[in-house]
Amino acid sequence: MSPELSTSVKYWLNFFHPVLMWVLLVFSIYAAYLGLQVQRTRNAQGEEKKELIKGRYNLRHYQIGSILLALMVTGAIGGMAVTYINNGKLFVQPHLLAGLGMTSLIAFSAALSPYMQKGANWARATHILINFTLLGLFAWQAVTGVQIVQRILTKA
Ligand code: HEM
Ligand code: HEM
Repeated sequence: MSPELSTSVKYWLNFFHPVLMWVLLVFSIYAAYLGLQVQRTRNAQGEEKKELIKGRYNLRHYQIGSILLALMVTGAIGGMAVTYINNGKLFVQPHLLAGLGMTSLIAFSAALSPYMQKGANWARATHILINFTLLGLFAWQAVTGVQIVQRILTKA
């Protein structure tokens, strides 16, 4: 048997994942904005293109994307860890399944990076499709996530 965590530590652990994920939702929207600027830069011509290149959107998008990848994987595992610590089990519910799905999707999406950088259009199209699906699932996770928070608050 592992040493027991105090009840209040267990309780407060519940808020770590929801807060982190809301921050990540904002990061994702910012990543989407930067990604669309990458696309705009690639399609622009002349003076406009020169101006857009100065924004270094490809670099900034890759950096934000990498942070998002790391924190989403850790955040999802963290959510499962806290659920297990508090309940001794996981709940096979939409939030768990969509969360695991998102974690796999972002791994695939990030793994396309070297191919996109070599200019492969299939990689870009797949990356965009995966990530807008990811954003849709994220909105859904925010709704079901807040419902779980409400349940935790009324239980306490
Ligand atoms: C919400 C998440 C994300 C969205 C909506 C998104 C969207 C996009 C879009 C629209 C493009 C432009 C493709 C084009 O040139 O037509 C792009 C490119 C790219 N994305 Fe993402 N992306 C996301 C996350 C990520 C992640 C997690 C990574 C890697 C860690 C990543 C790495 C890249 C790279 C390397 C490119 C190519 C940039 C270049 O052309 O140099 N993205 N993304
Ligand atoms: C956007 C706002 C989100 C909120 C408010 C939220 C809220 C929660 C809450 C309250 C829990 C219970 C565990 C705990 O108290 O820490 C939980 C569990 C979980 N969350 Fe989230 N979450 C959100 C987004 C996400 C996202 C984006 C993912 C995946 C990428 C995710 C994956 C999970 C997983 C896998 C669990 C474990 C569920 C289980 O085993 O029953 N969540 N979430």
